[in-house]
Amino acid sequence: MSKMESIDKMKEILLAGGEDTDAARTKGAPDAQAVQEILERHGHKASQIIAILQDLQAVRHYLSGPELRIISRELDVPLTRIYAIATFYKAFRLTPRGRHEISLCMGTACHVRGAMRVKDAIERELGVKAGGTTRDGRFTFETVRCLGCCGQAPVMMVDEELSSKLDHLSVGKALEKYK
Ligand code: FES
Repeated sequence: MSKMESIDKMKEILLAGGEDTDAARTKGAPDAQAVQEILERHGHKASQIIAILQDLQAVRHYLSGPELRIISRELDVPLTRIYAIATFYKAFRLTPRGRHEISLCMGTACHVRGAMRVKDAIERELGVKAGGTTRDGRFTFETVRCLGCCGQAPVMMVDEELSSKLDHLSVGKALEKYK
């Protein structure tokens, strides 16, 4: 089978899976070409499964069900084994992530200075609860414990950028620049 035929076959299987509608909404169609390239880079070797999953996540930001099924079939590794690996290592994600990751501190210092109201404001602004990803794939919102800058509480990180002394009125503005 040529490379293009192989990619077409993968697309067929991926699209026929009918799963992962969130992924389709947030990331577009499954990336069959990326899967194929990653498999080729690792010589289609089952012994390279962890590196293959790492590379897939680096490209797709998470491990989607349809793509894991293809890897399972191509490498002749049971899907249950692949899921066992993907769930064992905390670095692997099985749900789609947003383009930007919000980590709002709910530690003691932030909590006493209004982090709960900031959290409510973010949830209203994004239309998603903590732990979720917006339907447009723009943000994943999570709460964390102490970011280590309690003197500037309440604080949040968006990707690598810290926002400090937040309040429920200003937080919406702070998120505007992230597209
Ligand atoms: S409690 Fe929020 S930064 Fe320490």
